Amino acid sequence: MTALSTIARLLALLPAVVAVNVPNTTSLVQNSTSSTSPATFTNPILPGFHPDPSCIHVADDDGNSNSPGTFFCVSSSFSAFPGLPIHASRDLQHWSLIGHVVNRRSQLPALVETNRSTSGLWAPTLRYHGGTFYVVTTLVNDERPQTDVSRWDNLIFQADDPYDASSWTNPTRFNFTGYDPSPFWDDDGRAYIVASYAWQLQPGIQLAEIDLDTGELVSDDSDDSDDDDSKATAPSWSTIWTGTGGLAPEGPHIYRKDGWYYLLIAEGGTGLNHMVTMARSKTLKGPYTPHPNNPVLTNANTTEYFQTVGHADLFSDASGNWWAVALATRSGPGYTNYPMGRETVLTPVEWPSPSLEHASSTNGTDALLSGWPRFAPVRGAMSGPLPPVDKEFDPDDDDSDDYTRELSGDDIDFAKWHASRRLPPHFTYWRPPVEGAYEIVPLPADMVANPAKPKSNTTWHSAGSSHPVTNNSATTPNALRLLPSTLNLTGLDGNYAGQKGQTFVGRRQQHTLFTFRVDLTFQPTALHEDEAGISVFLTQNHHLDIGLVRLEDTTVKNLTFSERPSWIFVRFQGITTGTATLPKPVSMVVPAQWHTLGTAEQFRNDAAPLHVTLQIQAANATHYSFSAWPTLAESEMRTIAWANNDAVSWGFTGALLGVYCTTNGGGANGTGTNGGAPVYINRWQYTPLGQFRN
Ligand SMILES: *[C@@H]1O[C@H](CO)[C@@H](O)[C@H](O)[C@H]1NC(C)=O
Ligand SMILES: *[C@@H]1O[C@H](CO)[C@@H](O)[C@H](O)[C@H]1NC(C)=O
Ligand SMILES: *[C@@H]1O[C@H](CO)[C@@H](O)[C@H](O)[C@H]1NC(C)=O
Ligand SMILES: *[C@@H]1O[C@H](CO)[C@@H](O)[C@H](O)[C@H]1NC(C)=O
Ligand SMILES: *[C@@H]1O[C@H](CO)[C@@H](O)[C@H](O)[C@H]1NC(C)=O
Ligand SMILES: *[C@@H]1O[C@H](CO)[C@@H](O)[C@H](O)[C@H]1NC(C)=O
Ligand SMILES: *[C@@H]1O[C@H](CO)[C@@H](O)[C@H](O)[C@H]1NC(C)=O
Ligand SMILES: *[C@@H]1O[C@H](CO)[C@@H](O)[C@H](O)[C@H]1NC(C)=O
Ligand SMILES: *[C@@H]1O[C@H](CO)[C@@H](O)[C@H](O)[C@H]1NC(C)=O
Ligand SMILES: *[C@@H]1O[C@H](CO)[C@@H](O)[C@H](O)[C@H]1NC(C)=O
Ligand SMILES: *[C@@H]1O[C@H](CO)[C@@H](O)[C@H](O)[C@H]1NC(C)=O
Ligand SMILES: *[C@@H]1O[C@H](CO)[C@@H](O)[C@H](O)[C@H]1NC(C)=O
Repeated sequence: MTALSTIARLLALLPAVVAVNVPNTTSLVQNSTSSTSPATFTNPILPGFHPDPSCIHVADDDGNSNSPGTFFCVSSSFSAFPGLPIHASRDLQHWSLIGHVVNRRSQLPALVETNRSTSGLWAPTLRYHGGTFYVVTTLVNDERPQTDVSRWDNLIFQADDPYDASSWTNPTRFNFTGYDPSPFWDDDGRAYIVASYAWQLQPGIQLAEIDLDTGELVSDDSDDSDDDDSKATAPSWSTIWTGTGGLAPEGPHIYRKDGWYYLLIAEGGTGLNHMVTMARSKTLKGPYTPHPNNPVLTNANTTEYFQTVGHADLFSDASGNWWAVALATRSGPGYTNYPMGRETVLTPVEWPSPSLEHASSTNGTDALLSGWPRFAPVRGAMSGPLPPVDKEFDPDDDDSDDYTRELSGDDIDFAKWHASRRLPPHFTYWRPPVEGAYEIVPLPADMVANPAKPKSNTTWHSAGSSHPVTNNSATTPNALRLLPSTLNLTGLDGNYAGQKGQTFVGRRQQHTLFTFRVDLTFQPTALHEDEAGISVFLTQNHHLDIGLVRLEDTTVKNLTFSERPSWIFVRFQGITTGTATLPKPVSMVVPAQWHTLGTAEQFRNDAAPLHVTLQIQAANATHYSFSAWPTLAESEMRTIAWANNDAVSWGFTGALLGVYCTTNGGGANGTGTNGGAPVYINRWQYTPLGQFRN
């Protein structure tokens, strides 16, 4: 299938790479009659942890003015790795994850040691100019004082081919005491960055001319070139707008249209008061006149399911129709249950040219309102002048038999994977992973399950040669092996995890209702130390876990094997902050009949590996259930806990579902290299069961 998929990929690639410059927005006059007929679509377009979206449209260079071109979006990723996902679509409805801007540990070594879950890569802006893709963002160290310029590591990435991970450069840095940077090119080709000054110090949107290749500010002395050097203005940032008085004016973007510079920003903070406001000016540096009826887009003070709508970006499609993306949370005004965090939503925008509109104006109100974009309010069910459906767009050049796409769910049989195969692009780590801790390896011989053999019908403590002795070396299935990290998911203090990290790999929760189940093989040996399981992980101090761990038996007394100090337990536990509800930990001794692996010798030594399936299910919008069973006997399923998802509804990120492996501080020193029990993942399934939109 490689030849075919290579061709498919080249075809998909072609328009993007050789595309002409994005249309000069100055000359782009909306032709309201050129809209294709309205079609329906649903929000969010990028469900799950995809905040602070920034999107562009890149025209096809095929000489056909009807070609839809390609839409690209980037979103924030905080400490997740790979960072800054890029999604692409040709119809605004079918989106594919085509890669990540930050895809190599070496691009951003500091990402390994972010402290606090609110640190990491904040609000990127994606732009295409002169054949180059730019992503400008900030690596924020939220631990440092606002005044410390090193708190704000402002970064410029470039790529010729966003489909090729290696095309993304190492970052160029620029100095700015703030965040949310966005590049803008004026008609004369000069480049600027507009960004948010640290609002706790002094709220304001600032602008500076910059050399995007070096990160150096450019002196604003071009008009005074005859003056001697001493009179030249030192390059500096200037405040161009402070917003309408809402909290934290941020997320600015500038658009050139019809002779105006339109400045779009977010205000109100990224919670329930979030809103989009605008101002415009005839000159880039202002003064900017606010829209007479700000905010231009918000769901604040409504009962809508989609709340916190804000942090928008605007782009126009091949037909000249305008669109906005923004972030939103599916929380309702109660704002309590939103484990998927801030997601990407799309809304159509009417942006008539002021001259056309002005012609029909009869009074001053019209003139004042003339030329501004009008945003449709964000809802779950939307309609707009969508481009023609193009489901065929599939930039995936990897085998796609075992997993399809991020949004349609996973059913991954690692047993059949080749050792060299890379994990799917939507698999996500918390900070860059430790080399070698996540590998496809042959499952050890004593861990190979043999469904053909009868399952044990005896309790293992009455053991003897009657146990099913597994020897399945005729077939040698592979598995994804995770070596344990010393630190568990909480890490050092719920905020930090040092250099050696935390062994965890997950994927975003992208559906209100889903089942996430993982078949794993694991033999916890060290008391209180070895542990592996699955988690709904939001941050290091917000996660809900079900795992296998060795504990003393405090509940069951006087068993036949009373000389044994410990048993393997299935344990649920979690951690959260604030007023969220959190059930107490639940531990259940693994029932004897769950032991379907191992030799008689292993049973005698209490060293038989377990072949178990763990499951997290969201069966309604507020609760997860946590279950386990022996993989070969689903009828044995035990649900040991239910938890309200308000425990993982917090902050800037969104829930990940994944597998962890740890020694809980003991034994191993680092990740796996000094011992500790690895976990073998045989099968990984994420099954969407439903999406709530209102
Ligand atoms: C506007 O759209 C109409 C209908 O598609 C078309 O006939 C006309 O040429 C378009 N005008 C411009 C300026 O693109
Ligand atoms: C990480 O942040 C916590 C507070 O959130 C602080 O106590 C700790 O010292 C920080 N660690 C490092 C290494 O900066
Ligand atoms: C940023 O500021 C530092 C310290 O003032 C300076 O050394 C460095 O050259 C500046 N970087 C750029 C790109 O201007
Ligand atoms: C954009 O179009 C305007 C008006 O047609 C023109 O004056 C300007 O030079 C163009 N800018 C660029 C960068 O092509
Ligand atoms: C929502 O209502 C509150 C209270 O009336 C008000 O302060 C706030 O400005 C409103 N927010 C928006 C975005 O309209
Ligand atoms: C001005 O125009 C707007 C929109 O057409 C209308 O709602 C408003 O009543 C008009 N005002 C006056 C004073 O005529
Ligand atoms: C399995 O165990 C149950 C209960 O201990 C017993 O009733 C049953 O006969 C056993 N089945 C076999 C095939 O040994
Ligand atoms: C398992 O089977 C292989 C070949 O079928 C054999 O060589 C090996 O000795 C067996 N191992 C055990 C522990 O029985
Ligand atoms: C264990 O069970 C035996 C017989 O059932 C009983 O005599 C003994 O007291 C029990 N020991 C404990 C510690 O419960
Ligand atoms: C969701 O499921 C939990 C656990 O079963 C239950 O307590 C809760 O009432 C359910 N909520 C709704 C709205 O059905
Ligand atoms: C995580 O590990 C630490 C030791 O590093 C331990 O104190 C803590 O209880 C563990 N937390 C959980 C949730 O297992
Ligand atoms: C772990 O590493 C530290 C420093 O790297 C060392 O001092 C310590 O002895 C190591 N412990 C074990 C158990 O290897």
